[in-house]
Order: sequence, then structure tokens, then C-alpha cells
Amino acid sequence: MLRRAPRNDNPSCVVIRAAFVYNPSVERIRILGRNDLRLKGDVRISGSKNAVLPALAASLLTSEPVRLHNIPLVKDVFSMLKLMTELGLEYALEGTSLTLDVPKILSEEASYSLVKLMRASFLVLGPLLARFGKAIVAQPGGCAIGPRPVDLHIAGLQRLGANITFEHGYVKAEADRLQGADIRFEKKTVGGTEHLVMAAALARGETVLRNCAQEPEISNLCELLIKMGARIEGVGEETIRIVGVEQLGGADHEIIPDRIETGTFLVAGALTRGDIHLTGTEPSHILTTIEKLRYSGAVIDVEGKAIHVTGSAEIRPQDVTTSPYPGFPTDMQAQFMVLMTQAAGTSIITETIFDRRFQHVNELLRLGATIEVMGDKAVVHGRTPLSGAEVIATDLRASASLILAGLIASGETIVNDVEHIDRGYERIEEKLRGLGARIDRIRE
Ligand code: EPZ
Repeated sequence: MLRRAPRNDNPSCVVIRAAFVYNPSVERIRILGRNDLRLKGDVRISGSKNAVLPALAASLLTSEPVRLHNIPLVKDVFSMLKLMTELGLEYALEGTSLTLDVPKILSEEASYSLVKLMRASFLVLGPLLARFGKAIVAQPGGCAIGPRPVDLHIAGLQRLGANITFEHGYVKAEADRLQGADIRFEKKTVGGTEHLVMAAALARGETVLRNCAQEPEISNLCELLIKMGARIEGVGEETIRIVGVEQLGGADHEIIPDRIETGTFLVAGALTRGDIHLTGTEPSHILTTIEKLRYSGAVIDVEGKAIHVTGSAEIRPQDVTTSPYPGFPTDMQAQFMVLMTQAAGTSIITETIFDRRFQHVNELLRLGATIEVMGDKAVVHGRTPLSGAEVIATDLRASASLILAGLIASGETIVNDVEHIDRGYERIEEKLRGLGARIDRIRE
């Protein structure tokens, strides 16, 4: 539904909201599952949520328009746009292309009421500070999947010369101009790497970032910044060098496909002995997941930017340990666990990135799975036919795993708290229905 939204009666800015309107009434997802379901057909993968969010923040670094293509129409994108509009962003959305413009700053403060909706909005701090010399951003609170401090972001910005104070749950940062520095991350952090690359792009002199995370979303951000005029070397590597420039310009940039949505549909194909053709993918970004799915018995053919998955009758157990890219992604852990509930034998899944990322286990037990959690390990005893039940989604990827489990559980599964799934999956029920699933959304 297209709707013109009034804003600051600023005639030069036309805000067009498309496709995503969240209905605050209670929404649940209902799945009529079958343990002999076979998903079949084509599905198009959307742009990457985790690539577009930092790219949106990067637009704060310039007064010229930044145009992004292949953006996912998911809730997190609209939360970020809402927050940035309060800072001074003007944007126009046409299909999956977004034009972003921050001609001037309206406010240097990002409020808790918006930051709490989505942690990645904390990434506006560095760009605001680098361009305008001042920023006040709410500290992101707790998260279902574990304590997610931003201490490495803060320590890095302080190394770049920012004067940072903490008041009433807000981070207040000031600096006339940031200064290049040599910074080693204590541990690999995706958000921390993205944050410092953006801040360093406008700093005086050279910044060297060591022990960087290497996720493809970071490389996509660096490519955008380079198009904006940033001087960056070592894109995709553990050491990134940035020579700051006086100012950055506009750019036209394509957001990479969502590798986690890709992985989720590959698991759906393997889980249902399906036959699915995924288009609009980037196979090179999801090699470890493809490898594990092949070991588990699925047949996966890569055809350029498309992937064809054919599930096998026999699913083999696999031990999996999550780790930073190019290791097995923690964002695929819950979905892969569902597949292992259908494997002929026992699998051990070790979660090394987040302390509390097994919350989906209790809900999978409600569907009839047999899983024991011991510290950072989940021991999955397969093969256990699942039966439908009412379950609660606790976070984005947990909700994806419950939907996958509901597909092969006999009878009806009701997934509550679906606002999580809308944060990162675009029209997931529609896409699954297109493959033969019986799934819909119920509103009360
Ligand atoms: C990004 O989160 C993703 N989010 C997450 O995806 C993903 O799970 C995560 O990277 C790991 O791959 C976005 O890109 C928006 P980190 P981020 O900083 O940047 C600790 C999804 O489902 N840490 O790499 O927040 C942290 O607690 C989401 O789409 C510090 O200790 O993750 C964690 O244990 C969920 N101090 C580890 O590092 C810091 O300052 C990795 O976190 C920063 C991080």
C-alpha cells in the first residue's frame, strides 16, 4: 500500500512508504505442516538486511545523494529510516531502490525509543561524529541472543580521538576532527569493523584496523564508501587501511543478496526433500553452509547467481561450530538445527558467538524434537518426526527455525511474536506458499 506521509511540512522532501505496513494488532503465523511435504519451485532472494543497515548509516557521511538498489523491504530497514529521518534524512523509495539525502543535520541525537527497536542503529554514531563533530546516541539495551556490548565500538572511536561520555543511557561523542590511528580489535566484530571504517573515512590521516571481521556485508559497505570517494585498502581482509579524506560524495550502489535468507531456503529444500531454484543469490557468500548441507546429503548445484537444491531422503548428522566469516554463520545455527532433528543420528551444534542463542531449543522440544543443551553445545538426536504445536519466537533466526520446523510437523503449528521474522525476512510466508507450503498470517 502506498501512502504519502507528512513530515516537517518540508515541501522539498517527499516520503514514500511502500510495501511494509506493520499492523500492531496481534499477528501470528499458522502453518499446516506435513512430514512428507516437498517444497518445489523458484524463489527470489532479497537484498541483505545486514548489508543495507550500515549502508544507510553511511549516507550520513555526505551531503550528496546516495542511491541504493536491491534493498530488502523488511521492518529493520524502516526502523532505521525512521530514526535517520529524525536526524535529517530525506529519502525516496521506488520499488527496491532508495535515494538517501542528508543535506543538513536536524538533530544529533538518536533517541532510545528508536535505537531500542534495532541495535544496528547505533552505527549512526560514528558517521554523525565524523561529519558533524558531535553525536548523542542511546546505548542499545539487552538482546535475546546474549549480552551484546558495544565496548569495542566505543574504544575504537576513542582511539580515533573522540571525547566520549555516558549520560542517562546515552553515549555522547565529540571531536573537532577524528584522527587516524592503529587499532587492533580484541575480538572480531562485524558492527565494530563497519563503525570504525565509516568514522575513519573522514578522519585526518591513516587508520589501520587489525583483526577485522570479514563478513561480505562489511566488504559491500567498503565498496559503497570507495564509490563515495573514501580511500580504503584491504577490503574483505583482516587488516583494513583507511586514509581519511576531507569530504565524501554521493554514489549509486547495489546491496548484496541476503546470504542468510539464501541459507534459510536451502535448508527448507534439504529439510523437505524439496526441489527449489533460488535466484538473485551470491553463492560465494554462503560456501560453508552449502558444504555442510552437501555433507548432510542435499544435492546443491550452483548456476551462476542461482542455486538449485534437491533434498535427499536420507539426512546425515553433522557437527557444526559457529564462527566468524568465512566460518559457519551463527545466523544459520537455528535453521540448521531443525535439519539435524531429521538426521539419522546425533549432531553436536556449538555456538561460539552469542551466549544465549539456543532459545529456539525449548520451542523445538514442544514440536517433538530431542535436543539437550550443555553450555555452548546442543546435542541433537535425530530422526524425530515433529508434530504441530503453538510456539513462541524469541528472535529473528529462532523464528525462521520455528517456521521451518512447522513445515514438516504434522498438523497445525502457530508461531507467536512474528514481529521478529518481519525484521529480517521479506514476505516469507508468500515466498514459502509459492513453493507449496500451507502457511498464512492470522491477525486478531
Ligand atoms: C552482526 O551483529 C549481525 N547483525 C548479526 O546478525 C550477526 O549475528 C553478528 O554480526 C555475527 O555474525 C547485523 O549485521 C545488523 P558482532 P553485530 O559485533 O555486529 C561481541 C541477525 O540475525 N562484541 O560481530 O552486533 C558480541 O557480543 C543478526 O541478522 C563485543 O563484545 O555482531 C558477540 O559476542 C543477529 N563488544 C561478538 O562480539 C563489541 O563492542 C560478535 O558480535 C561488539 C561485539
